[in-house]
Amino acid sequence: MTPPTQPTIVLNDGNAIPTVGLGVWQTPPEETQRAVEAALSTGYRHIDTAAVYGNESEVGHAIKASGVPREEVFLVTKLWNADQGYDKGLKAFDVSAERLGVDYVDLYLIHWPVPAANLFVDSFKALAHLREQGRVRSIGVSNFAPEHLRTLIADTGIVPAVNQIELHPRLPQQELRQVHVELGIATEAWSPLGQGGLLSDPVVTTVADTHCKTPAQVLIRWHIQLGNIVIPKSVNPDRIASNFDVFDFELSSHDIASIATLDDGTRLGPDPRTFNFTG
Ligand code: A2P
Repeated sequence: MTPPTQPTIVLNDGNAIPTVGLGVWQTPPEETQRAVEAALSTGYRHIDTAAVYGNESEVGHAIKASGVPREEVFLVTKLWNADQGYDKGLKAFDVSAERLGVDYVDLYLIHWPVPAANLFVDSFKALAHLREQGRVRSIGVSNFAPEHLRTLIADTGIVPAVNQIELHPRLPQQELRQVHVELGIATEAWSPLGQGGLLSDPVVTTVADTHCKTPAQVLIRWHIQLGNIVIPKSVNPDRIASNFDVFDFELSSHDIASIATLDDGTRLGPDPRTFNFTG
């Protein structure tokens, strides 16, 4: 099978990640295999899961069932908060790899900094060890604020390849994206469609109408043009396909400016600086 050509972003360790992936947060396990198979057959080659999503096994089954060679798929999973620490981190990776049915993961992320536990440096050392062993190709973080990133880099000497953060037009994360540029970290957007809440916004639908595209396609395109890696979630095969059909049009500076008016600081998820849940 010839791998489909699609845009990628080269990470600070030289590995390339497909810019658009399928996110499976909030995809129930019983719907995950079908969604991931639909994505792979459409051409997606990047799947983003996490231990805490409860659907790693189904992601693994879908990759096997798809017939797409393992090495063509960029597979991402995440270390859950309760598993932070050096030894616990290594063990948690074993469990994730077993569930996924893979020998290696392309990108392994610390899911949240959990500042109160103060274990993210030790956890990242475990990720670095897994990378040395070849069990993980790239290592990164999720939901890290600038101070967490700076501590991590100062204490380990390693710059995470990505920081996956909540990012959509209502929370465009300008400052944090600038910090990423300064540090050489790729920005990855979760809840890129505002969990669906932005799809009926008149600003977005107006831009969509001018391009004869769907609101979701406009939002995904907005992320691409900002330089983000983007992982829209859908369980619907038609929407999964149309969310990937975003490489043949371009938003104008006028479109980008009108989408910028949506910035009101709305955060849909928890604040990473105070989220210390380890359940
Ligand atoms: P569904 O899974 O039923 O398609 P986000 O990625 O920001 O978390 O947004 C995911 C939400 O957006 C889900 O509710 C998903 O519903 C919905 N969604 C994803 N793609 C589309 C689309 N192309 N059209 C309409 N809704 C979409």
